[in-house]
Amino acid sequence: MMNLAPELRAAIEKAGQSHLLEYSSELLAAQLKEIDWELLPELIANYVVKKPQISIPEDLQPAPYFPLVPRNKEEEEKKARAQALGIELLKSGKAACLTVAGGQGTRLGFDGPKGTYPIGPVSGRTLFEYFAQSIARAEEKFGAPIRWYVMTSALNREATETFFRENGNLGLREDQVFFFTQGTMPAIGYDGKLLMSSPDSLALSPDGHGGTLLALRKSGALEQMKKDGVEYISYFQVDNPLVPVVNPLFIGMHALEKADMSAIMLAKTNAFEKLGNFCVTNGHLEIIEYSDLPAELAESRNPDGSLRFISGSPAIHVISRAFVERLTASGKLDLPWHRADKKIPSVSDPKPEAPNGVKLESFIFDALALAEKTLVLEGDRAEMFAPTKNPTGVDSVESCREMLIARDLRRLRAAGVKVGGDVKVELSPRRVFDDEDAIQLAAAQNLEEISSGTETVIG
Ligand code: UTP
Repeated sequence: MMNLAPELRAAIEKAGQSHLLEYSSELLAAQLKEIDWELLPELIANYVVKKPQISIPEDLQPAPYFPLVPRNKEEEEKKARAQALGIELLKSGKAACLTVAGGQGTRLGFDGPKGTYPIGPVSGRTLFEYFAQSIARAEEKFGAPIRWYVMTSALNREATETFFRENGNLGLREDQVFFFTQGTMPAIGYDGKLLMSSPDSLALSPDGHGGTLLALRKSGALEQMKKDGVEYISYFQVDNPLVPVVNPLFIGMHALEKADMSAIMLAKTNAFEKLGNFCVTNGHLEIIEYSDLPAELAESRNPDGSLRFISGSPAIHVISRAFVERLTASGKLDLPWHRADKKIPSVSDPKPEAPNGVKLESFIFDALALAEKTLVLEGDRAEMFAPTKNPTGVDSVESCREMLIARDLRRLRAAGVKVGGDVKVELSPRRVFDDEDAIQLAAAQNLEEISSGTETVIG
């Protein structure tokens, strides 16, 4: 029999999960201690037994945003002020980077943490290396330290840390990278019983990127930020190497607006592009998932023919540290859960052929609805969003590499370099953080022309 406190045993029974008490393992006992048994029956009732119905509020409107190209002098001035402020904040060490890398990357089908995928179109540099080198260059440029918070899951923490260790901490200082681990959620069978992945263990999975917020507190990351004087968190996903690791304009605009949490929006390429939609309801900013936005709204148009719900989310945020402090002060965080029906291997069915249960995840963007002040800034897709979700096709390794090359070629052309046809060039992120760096690099290397067919890394 497992060594469990009588109160825990009673709580498990009360939650209708006595089948778990038939097993005996230390690991399982430790897992059972971590579960919120009071909350569980409610989750099962609301998310598993019945499918949560997404109700679209009647007052739903497209969210306002600050446009990429200012529409008037006032916006032009504001943009310039924000850019200057962002640079100032970076120079005074007020920002840190946060990468969420706890996902399972099932679509990519790569063996190992997604961040160790060799994305560099010419160099084969991994996603983690891309970010590390870019952070190192940004530090150099702004002359202030930038700490990198990397969120892993319990499943990939060890492999992630090993990768960093075996690769010289990717060129970063020993204490510059702060790893932390998100929480887990137990998978629940359609009968409302928690599933066991083996006789020793529950079937557990990461609790979604919404888990970031509580994990920041529990891991001591928030405290570290406070000690460092960091006020702004530059948040991005591990599968998007095109993202600027810190974006002075975005950070500056967020600070200028005194926002709690801000988001980059991209103009959707079509009504049904698979991006969350920025909406406003009841005075609050909200992201409605593409699968939840009714077709008639997704397709509705403005008088000029443009999509009404044009704003898609690439999951790039600036989050104020103070906001995370506030949200997590009680040690709990009320974000809604999202249900995903999955084939979950378990002791009773090691290879299910159809979905047999539910995984629950929370999403970071649901924190936008809890913010008092938010800001949405339009971004340029070609400069910041190349997600690596699949091996080929849309949002894939292929499309990501093409976009990285296109961005670097644009930078080279802007630096006055003539570029021939069929060129595959990669600018080293360690040398080039922005357009200005590309100009300097081209000058330093007397780069005037890249002839057709060249395949090379510069920098
Ligand atoms: P995705 O939603 O693309 O999920 O995550 P994924 O697990 O990486 O890939 P699939 O869906 O299994 O193919 C978006 C970002 O959020 C992170 C991922 O690592 C990625 O950077 N994430 C996701 C977490 O950090 N934790 C999670 O629990 C889920």
